[in-house]
Amino acid sequence: MSDKTVVLTDAASNRSASLPVVAGTMGDPAFDIGKLNKDTGYFTYDPGFMSTAATKSAVTFIDGDQGVLLYRGYPIEQLAKNSNFLEVAYLLINGELPRADEFAKFEHDVTHHTMMRESLKNFFQGFHYDAHPMAMCMAAVGSLAAFYHDSLDIADPAQRKLAAIRLIAKMPTIAAAAYRYSIGWPIRYPRNNLEYCSRFLHMMFEVPSEPLQMSPVAAKALDLLFILHADHEQNASTSTVRLVGSTGANPYACVAAGIAALWGPAHGGANEAVLKMLAEIGDAKSVGKAVERAKDKNSGFRLMGFGHRVYKNFDPRATIIREMCHKVLGELGVNDPLLDVAMELEQAALKDPYFVERKLYPNVDFYSGIIYKALGIPTEMFTVMFAIARTAGWVAHWLEQHETPDAKIGRPRQIYTGASTRDYVAADKR
Ligand code: ACO
Repeated sequence: MSDKTVVLTDAASNRSASLPVVAGTMGDPAFDIGKLNKDTGYFTYDPGFMSTAATKSAVTFIDGDQGVLLYRGYPIEQLAKNSNFLEVAYLLINGELPRADEFAKFEHDVTHHTMMRESLKNFFQGFHYDAHPMAMCMAAVGSLAAFYHDSLDIADPAQRKLAAIRLIAKMPTIAAAAYRYSIGWPIRYPRNNLEYCSRFLHMMFEVPSEPLQMSPVAAKALDLLFILHADHEQNASTSTVRLVGSTGANPYACVAAGIAALWGPAHGGANEAVLKMLAEIGDAKSVGKAVERAKDKNSGFRLMGFGHRVYKNFDPRATIIREMCHKVLGELGVNDPLLDVAMELEQAALKDPYFVERKLYPNVDFYSGIIYKALGIPTEMFTVMFAIARTAGWVAHWLEQHETPDAKIGRPRQIYTGASTRDYVAADKR
């Protein structure tokens, strides 16, 4: 808290509120409107939280104008170059990079919580064969609360940590099981001699009849994608996790709610939507028509993978992933015509005044789907992949929330626009 204040005065009533300024270590300051309603009779209206900070947080910093993304102070570019997903998960949760012994213990703990209970495995049989894997993941993650009563006491820091580790460990197992069930293949157990991403790829693609040949390029690419998607401060799904968390709900319920929020096409569902859009456009020659359609507000069509609520210059993750996209496709020997469509679309939109004026740039999801496709991951699984990575951020925020002493239940206000008070009318008089 700084000693500055912002004074808001209602000229009509001459009532004022002196609102304390709250400044973080970086970024724009805010003023605390907690007393506004009591002092002036007003509260604030901010749909979409365009100007409202709902919490203080030390996990991730974004400067949307400068294209900066820091996890615990470390630039995403440096983490992408030097770190790995599990180390990043440790960093997000604990606030510091681990020493070698700390990392070894964390990796051991995650590795030894990868199994699903056998009865949870059977749970998948209850779904229709063509269920969307996000639906199965959301249900399976929520159901973990029914299995792990020893990590439901959210007042106990050790139980909170255990739940966080379980979620990071089991997400790939659940995700791969959802995929395998949807294609009618037997669900695989996690191989704990493999690293996090290789283990996931093994559970996804291994068949009982022959040994799986896995390219190290695939696991490396996945690891980098997971780093880039691990956290993004108070985005819709993380805010959902925090809102549900503010009620004291268990961590599995909170993360299941986060998965639900991530599913929407305006959020994590965009990577799936990008691939569908590129396939619909079909070839580079049809890009111009698609751009025109996206500019026409009556068409109901937007360029998926373009624009971002916070990044109005460029998405630093998109810069990293764009470069990686070409490299991975080259190394895996994939020649994907959709990449040509993507490149043409990117160039057309970046030159078009509509997109330039509105600062609509390709976001991280514009490229991630193309890489997932090259790795053999089916389109319906793209948002699930995002959910695996984002679990690290969700649990980091959930843990932080429960370490905050003055935490309150999240309860937004509203501007009521319905009917004024009126009397009930009997059915025969309506
Ligand atoms: N294609 C065409 N026009 C667009 C697009 C787009 N992708 N995105 C925004 N616009 C236009 C809007 O129509 C609006 O135009 P107007 O000023 O003439 O009315 C203007 O740009 C601002 O758009 P808003 O919707 O107000 O921007 P907001 O910050 O609320 O939305 C969002 C951001 C949801 C990401 C939006 O850009 C969008 O829908 N993009 C496509 C979906 C997508 O890629 N989502 C992934 C986000 S990243 C992530 O979750 C990891």
